[in-house]
Amino acid sequence: MGDQETVLFIDTDPGVDDALAIMMAHVFGRVVGLGIAAGNVGLAHTTANALKLLDVIGSEAPVFRGAPQTLVRPAHGAAHVHGADGFGDTGYLPTSRGSDAEHASLALLRLSHAHPCALTIVVLGPLTNLALALSLDPALPTRVRRLVVMGGAVTGQGNTSATAEFNVGFDPEAAHVVFSRWGEFQLVDWELCMRHALPEGRLESWLAHGGARPAFFAAISRKIRAFSHDQGRAGLVLADALAMAVALQPELVLASRRRSIRVELDGFLTRGATVVDWNGRGGQPPNALIAEAIDQQGFERMVAESLGLANG
Ligand code: RIB
Ligand code: CA
Repeated sequence: MGDQETVLFIDTDPGVDDALAIMMAHVFGRVVGLGIAAGNVGLAHTTANALKLLDVIGSEAPVFRGAPQTLVRPAHGAAHVHGADGFGDTGYLPTSRGSDAEHASLALLRLSHAHPCALTIVVLGPLTNLALALSLDPALPTRVRRLVVMGGAVTGQGNTSATAEFNVGFDPEAAHVVFSRWGEFQLVDWELCMRHALPEGRLESWLAHGGARPAFFAAISRKIRAFSHDQGRAGLVLADALAMAVALQPELVLASRRRSIRVELDGFLTRGATVVDWNGRGGQPPNALIAEAIDQQGFERMVAESLGLANG
């Protein structure tokens, strides 16, 4: 993408991996706004976490609360992964900083006019806010440079059910609205993220460095690192950080395929599953550029620099 600065609107449900992605966005791009989704631990916690994180990294980016509920059916969060408060239950001192009065969906529409054809929207949580913005203004995609979504499981290996990934599974109707009406977007799915976990030892060595960011991330990630270890994983899956790295440096993607992807809304066993038409059987036009391999070293360098470690 050359050296043009990446202007970012991030829709997010912080969440530990969201936090690293937001740190990365501030190191490698320009953040014009954060839209907050309920997702991982509910809107009150995710908003408080976003505000606290921005204080820690010294960011003045505005924070816009989004939808407190899904579009249709209620959903369960992921406190068992991220901690009840979404940031490892460290009991951090909340910031006095407040969120903006404007709704995330309205802020996104306004910023798409303020930065015509310049915004890269990165969705790191359920797609409720983007679906609402798109429903209010179907012309939104014509004013946006790129849409990158962390979500889905392209061969049905889910993390929140047998077949569904959390962000899509939390609000399948919202994902359906975006996937079916946006046009082409870039997808970083859960299965790709599992293939690009961060080796435990390497992350621990970075977190042992002094400095506000390593210390903060070490604290908020303690629970999720223990969860990951107990799951017997080779390393920590930082899904949102991988999606952010792809948004910031698209050249990290070593292989991808353009395919049609749709969301199952009614399956008793498969609600929230993302169904990819790999062999063009359904006659639907491709709507997703599905990343399939990433430069792992390049990704890890970006993570290290996001934590404030010089040249990773
Ligand atoms: O499935 C992974 C996604 O769900 C990540 O965005 C994580 O933060 C959770 O929201
Ligand atoms: Ca997230």
